[in-house]
Amino acid sequence: MHPGIDDLLTLLRFPSVSTKPEHRDDVRRCAEWLKAKLTSIGLTSELHETPGHPVVVGRNVHQPGRRTVMIYGHYDVQPAEPLEEWKTPAFEPTIRDGRIWCRGSTDNKGQLMAHLRGVEETLATGSDLPVNLIFLFEGEEEIGSPNLKPFLEAHRDELKCDVVAISDTGMVAPGVGTFTYGLRGIACLEALVSGPSIDLHSGIFGGAVANPNTAVAHLIASLHDKNGKVAVEGFYDDVREIEPWEREEWSKLGDTATETLSLTGSPELYGEAGYSELERRWARPTAEINGIGGGYQGAGSKTVIPREAMFKLSLRLVPDQKPEDILAKVEAHLKQHLPPGTRVQIHLGHTGQPYAMDPNSRFGMAARKALATAFDGKVALIREGGSIPIVQAFKDVLGVETILLGLALGDCQAHAPNENFPLENFEAGVRLNKILLHELAADS
Ligand code: BES
Ligand code: ZN
Repeated sequence: MHPGIDDLLTLLRFPSVSTKPEHRDDVRRCAEWLKAKLTSIGLTSELHETPGHPVVVGRNVHQPGRRTVMIYGHYDVQPAEPLEEWKTPAFEPTIRDGRIWCRGSTDNKGQLMAHLRGVEETLATGSDLPVNLIFLFEGEEEIGSPNLKPFLEAHRDELKCDVVAISDTGMVAPGVGTFTYGLRGIACLEALVSGPSIDLHSGIFGGAVANPNTAVAHLIASLHDKNGKVAVEGFYDDVREIEPWEREEWSKLGDTATETLSLTGSPELYGEAGYSELERRWARPTAEINGIGGGYQGAGSKTVIPREAMFKLSLRLVPDQKPEDILAKVEAHLKQHLPPGTRVQIHLGHTGQPYAMDPNSRFGMAARKALATAFDGKVALIREGGSIPIVQAFKDVLGVETILLGLALGDCQAHAPNENFPLENFEAGVRLNKILLHELAADS
C-alpha cells in the first residue's frame, strides 16, 4: 500500500461536514491538521479565518521567473446520511476490495491528498519543486463557497498565479486520463408555500380553502413541459450551443447511456428531448427538486390540510447563463404560477457560475500531456455536470484559467452512502502531481 495512505486515513476521520453547525469544530480541526501537515513537509502554511470555515494556504519559497501554480482542493464533505445504508461507518475509513470506503474519500480528500503527497515525495527526495506552488484548501465548497471569492479578492496579490489545477472531477473509466474543460454552474432556492393560518381538518374545511401541498405540486409541475424542457420563460436565452468538436469528442466515449442506466438503477433514462444523455448531463441546464415537504409524514393516514409546505430547488446552469438572472426568472415564474388561495415566500440560496475553457490553450495542453503520461494512454476530453462554484471566480478575480484533472470514478458514490476511492487512483494522483508540475513548468 502507498505510504501516503495513512495520512489520507487520518484526514478522512475528521467528520468535516460544512453544512452542519454541530460539526463546526470538526471542520476546524480538519483545517488545522492540514496546516500542520503542510508545515511538516517543508511548506509554509497559514490558516485564515473567514465568516464561515477556515481557508488553508500553503506555499514553497517562490522564485522569480518561475511559473506559479495554485492547486485547489476542498476538505469539507457532504453529510453522510442516511447512515444506516453504509456498509462500514461513514467516518471510519475502511479498505476493502482495493478501495477506501469513507465519506470524502473521493470528494475531495483523496484527490486533494494525492497532490499533497506528490509534493511531499518530491520535497523528500531533496529536490526542489519545479514551480512556485500555492496550495489553497477551503472548507465550504459543498455549501457553495460563500466566503472564498471575498477571500480571493482580499488576498489577490498573495494569490497571484499563472494557472489553477484541481482534481475534483470524474474519470470516464478506470485508468483513463480525463481532462474536464467545462462545469455546470448552480443556483439554489427554497420556496415556502402557505395557505390557512393553522392546520385544518380536511373534512371540515376541505373544498373551501387551497391546500399548500397541492399548490407545491402545481408549482413543481409547472417547471417542465412535456418534452422535459424547463418551462421558465427566458431560461434558455443564454445557453451556449454544443459545438461539433465536442460532439465528436464525446462520441468517442461509446454507449454511455447503458452505463448511466446501470449506475443509476433507474428503470429508463429521461430528460430534455433532442439531446443525448451525455449532452443533457454536461451541456444542458436543468431544474431539480432536491427536497419537498408538507403535511403528515408518519405512519397511517391523517386527514389534515397543512398550513404550509415547501420545496428546495436547484438549477444547473451552462455557459453563458448567469445565476442571478436565472434566479430572477424562476422567482417570477413561481409567483406567476402560484395557485389562488396561497402565498409563497422565496429564499434565494447559493450560486456558482458555469465554467468553460479552451482545452487547446497552453495550460490545457500541458494538463492533457500530463494526464497522457500519468495514465499511459489517450486522454478523454469532457465537460462535467457537477459544479465547483469557485472556478469561474478564479478567472474573474485572479484572471487565470483552471485545469481540471479528475480522479473520481463513476461508481465512487460521492454525496451518497458508501463513497469510495480506489487505492490505485490515489497512486495515479501522486504520479500525476509530479508530472503535471513539470509540464506546467516546462515552457516558463
Ligand atoms: N466534486 C464535486 C463537483 C463535481 C462532481 C464535479 C462530479 C464533477 C463531477 C463537488 O464537490 C460538488 O459536489 N459540488 C457541488 C457544489 C454545490 C453544493 C454548490 C455540486 O456540484 O453539487
Ligand atoms: Zn461534492
